[in-house]
Amino acid sequence: MTTQKPLVQINDLHLYFDSFDGQSHVLDGVNLTVNRGDILGIVGETGSGKTMTALSIANLMPGGKLTGEVWFDGENVLQKRGADLRRFRASRLGMIFQNPTTNLNPVFTIGELLIDAILTQQYDVAGWQLMSVGKWLNRGLRKQAREKAIELLNLVGIPDPAQRLSQYPHEFSGGQKQRVLIAMALAGDPDLLIADEPTTALDVAIQAQILRLIQRIVEEREMSALLITHDMGVVAKICTRVAVMYGGVVVEDAPIEAIFSNPQHPYTRGLLRAIPSDEMQHGDLQGIPGSPPSFLSPPSGCRFHPRCPERLEHCHIAPPAVVHINDESHSVACYLHTDEKRKSFARD
Ligand SMILES: Nc1ncnc2c1ncn2[C@@H]1O[C@H](COP(=O)(O)OP(=O)(O)OP(=O)(O)O)[C@@H](O)[C@H]1O
Ligand SMILES: [Mg+2]
Repeated sequence: MTTQKPLVQINDLHLYFDSFDGQSHVLDGVNLTVNRGDILGIVGETGSGKTMTALSIANLMPGGKLTGEVWFDGENVLQKRGADLRRFRASRLGMIFQNPTTNLNPVFTIGELLIDAILTQQYDVAGWQLMSVGKWLNRGLRKQAREKAIELLNLVGIPDPAQRLSQYPHEFSGGQKQRVLIAMALAGDPDLLIADEPTTALDVAIQAQILRLIQRIVEEREMSALLITHDMGVVAKICTRVAVMYGGVVVEDAPIEAIFSNPQHPYTRGLLRAIPSDEMQHGDLQGIPGSPPSFLSPPSGCRFHPRCPERLEHCHIAPPAVVHINDESHSVACYLHTDEKRKSFARD
């Protein structure tokens, strides 16, 4: 159940990359909240900044310049460095990515991979104190980690977990590999699970199982989750809230029911029109003519205006402010709404 207390709060996040061609302004003032108990979907086309936004929560941004604030349970993550940052990542975050095959090293058994993940997490949390313990104690830790590995495989629905620890990744199906990666992500009992396109590489039936698994785990363990996808169909299955990103900007942010019943941004409406029917096999986005904006020289004003079917005369002049629709929980950055608000103020 959603308790509406923020676990993560991202304020005015900007991300820049320098290249020979100039500077790309990849995230342009992202504001986002993940409440406790929420499964927040971040949805948007390829290149819209979903992964970069998620990585900022782990302060993982090699090569880019990040400004703004990322608050996690009262701590500013972007100010963390070194052992403090490692401890934070190991104890609070679990991350899973798109392709389970490339994320499991084929030369190690599932047991070695999982036990290693558990021990690394423990070292990161306890630091030098754990590193300095004697060999005999280490053996004890290994035994405990093996027990935890079995418990985690059980949790993610892998039958006969003790036997399967000695098998290699190629002996697991695609869906089972993704279950193993979820188990690894849970090694440190995280508060937030970040799942970046966790089901894109899987077939439709397995996708649904993995989504249900994520939903069950988040509920049972009273965690929160960030689910990144380009597929509104996936969002509809398990998310409690949705943030829609376009060109490095959150254009709309709302509870799941409101996004589907009362979408406000023309881009959100375009995404909803592009949801594939049951007969189609893939959730690729279609139906929004034009291509994503350049980050080297982004469009002036609203970044969506060159593709927007409802653009107004002044949409290219300055970025629209974020306004709330009905109540604080639904917000949209679009002149269709700022203009409406202005008119209603003028009438009052
Ligand atoms: N190291 C980098 N240098 C320059 N640009 C980068 C770098 N990393 C990412 N970008 C750019 O940042 C933008 C946002 O990338 P991001 O990976 O967040 O998109 P995304 O929404 O996750 O897309 P996808 O759905 O394809 O995963 C992209 O245009 C990408 O090219
Ligand atoms: Mg991505």
